[in-house]
Amino acid sequence: MDAFLEQLIKESPTAAYVFDAAVLKDRMAFLRKALPQDIALCYAVKANTFIIKEAEPLVERLEICSPGEAAVCQALDVDSRKMVISGVYKTPAFIEQLVSGGTFEGILTAESPLQYAMFCRLASQYHIPLRVLLRLTNNSQFGMDAAAVETIVREREQHPLITLAGIQYFSGTQKTSVGKYARELRALDSFLQKLRDSYGYTAQELEYGTGFPVSYFAGEELDESALLQEFSALLNGMTVRPKIILEIGRSIAAACGTYYTHIVDIKENKGQAYALTDGGMHHIVYFGQSMAMKQPYVSVLGKTAEAPIETFWTVCGSLCTMNDIMVKQLQLPPIAIGDVLCFERAGAYCMTEGLSLFLTRELPAVYITRADGTVYQVRRPFDVQSLNVPVYEKIK
Ligand SMILES: Cc1ncc(COP(=O)(O)O)c(C=O)c1O
Repeated sequence: MDAFLEQLIKESPTAAYVFDAAVLKDRMAFLRKALPQDIALCYAVKANTFIIKEAEPLVERLEICSPGEAAVCQALDVDSRKMVISGVYKTPAFIEQLVSGGTFEGILTAESPLQYAMFCRLASQYHIPLRVLLRLTNNSQFGMDAAAVETIVREREQHPLITLAGIQYFSGTQKTSVGKYARELRALDSFLQKLRDSYGYTAQELEYGTGFPVSYFAGEELDESALLQEFSALLNGMTVRPKIILEIGRSIAAACGTYYTHIVDIKENKGQAYALTDGGMHHIVYFGQSMAMKQPYVSVLGKTAEAPIETFWTVCGSLCTMNDIMVKQLQLPPIAIGDVLCFERAGAYCMTEGLSLFLTRELPAVYITRADGTVYQVRRPFDVQSLNVPVYEKIK
């Protein structure tokens, strides 16, 4: 690691995330190469909003799931033509504000007949054309079932200002089964055929959230190239072939992030070695690692083991709950107070899925590094106290 960055992290008053834009760029190039050439990529910004500015030039679209995510994109001057406004609850005031100015040129997803009706109403109220993707459900609270989608498609001519761009579909994350992809793409293919044959409707687009997996834990590496190759063959085998946009979060963002936390105490309780850190589960959550049942890739900044390591550490965070275990049975080079543990593959969700308000402890600093050696601080250690101090505004 660059000496400046190493010093910065060692001296940071809090734990910190670093997102490496060069790694992100390489990752995107890898995905492009592994997937069919004619597909487009959409970055699901929920995976990590801090890298939006770095990711935007590398993708055709950004999927935005809340007014907050939209505000971040707007603050970064993201072109509205790249925006897909998604989300199971689209705050009506936010959608109205977004589209009423007539400058929004992105896409809206309809997750329910009510959302669709809202788009139709706003389009005619403000005399503005809107492009809409209809989200097909995977039998959850998200999207609409086939019958509801078909009703909208059948009656589409009643709403001339609405362009039905096509279908959006997402069924879950960390999907490793080629069989599941095959079943989903077959079902989507036949649904698109049905829309064409029964309603004379040809979808221009299929925006498909693939839920590509990331291997986070020792012993769980996967053959990603083989998976992507089989997935690409499935895409190429579809009979109806609209423009395909793959909506991806985790698989784009995970590799570029590392979380750094300082060791602040060391002790042995009844023969068990504990290392306490200034981080914890309010800062970092790996998918499926509840109570440290699995081992993420962790190392000590600037140290490698020279001799065989005997100690098995339990690494804990600084929250006052027994659940705040970060790793168990971890073998490390000899450690001391002030050493920094580096948690890898932490670029997606890890930072945002934590219990950030619990215990009113500091949230991490965030840095971005670029290939030319520049380092940006993109968030100062966050003053969480201001969120948790009761304000006592008398309202009655
Ligand atoms: C609609 C939608 N698209 C895309 C994603 C991104 O999924 P992943 O991070 O697994 O790629 C999600 C994640 O929840 C989602 O809800």
